[in-house]
Amino acid sequence: MKLSTWFAAGLVATVAMAATAVVAQQDPIATRKELMKANGRNAGVIVKMVKGEEAFDANKVKTAFDQWDETATKFPSLFPDSSKDGDTRALPAVWSERAKFDAAIAKFKKDVDDNRAQAMSGADGLKVALAAVGKNCSDCHETFRKAQ
Ligand code: HEC
Repeated sequence: MKLSTWFAAGLVATVAMAATAVVAQQDPIATRKELMKANGRNAGVIVKMVKGEEAFDANKVKTAFDQWDETATKFPSLFPDSSKDGDTRALPAVWSERAKFDAAIAKFKKDVDDNRAQAMSGADGLKVALAAVGKNCSDCHETFRKAQ
């Protein structure tokens, strides 16, 4: 490939990435739902490992913990006032009890970080870690997400 073609390809990729970032800013509802969907997919893999339906795989455990950590890091900025209404299951409590919601995100992140090493240590450790991390999912959904 000629250098100029390389450059053009790189430029297109950069513009595409910038466009994705803009979409994320403009559509926080879609962004947070995508992150949560990935949370669900990763939790499914981990649950299968804990049940023994899938072999323990430290790489997949790492992927799940990395993704949960990413979600917890991005989540606080994905609930601007403008995103209360729309195609969302977030309850009004997210905004009326914002400090509590932010604390729930912070606790989720801490439990992900604190349980990572234990989870990577093997199937037994993973079971304990999943219980600790998974409680955050259900606790937060109970208070801040509409039941379907
Ligand atoms: C701090 C709060 C919080 C935590 C922790 C949390 N969630 Fe959520 N989750 C939400 C909220 C709020 C929504 C609704 C988002 C919306 O519709 O705008 C949601 C939505 C979802 C959805 C539905 C996504 C869709 O298709 O629209 C799934 C699946 C999900 N969460 C899985 C998980 C799993 C698995 C975990 C734990 C590993 C988790 N969540 C942890 C708050 C949380």
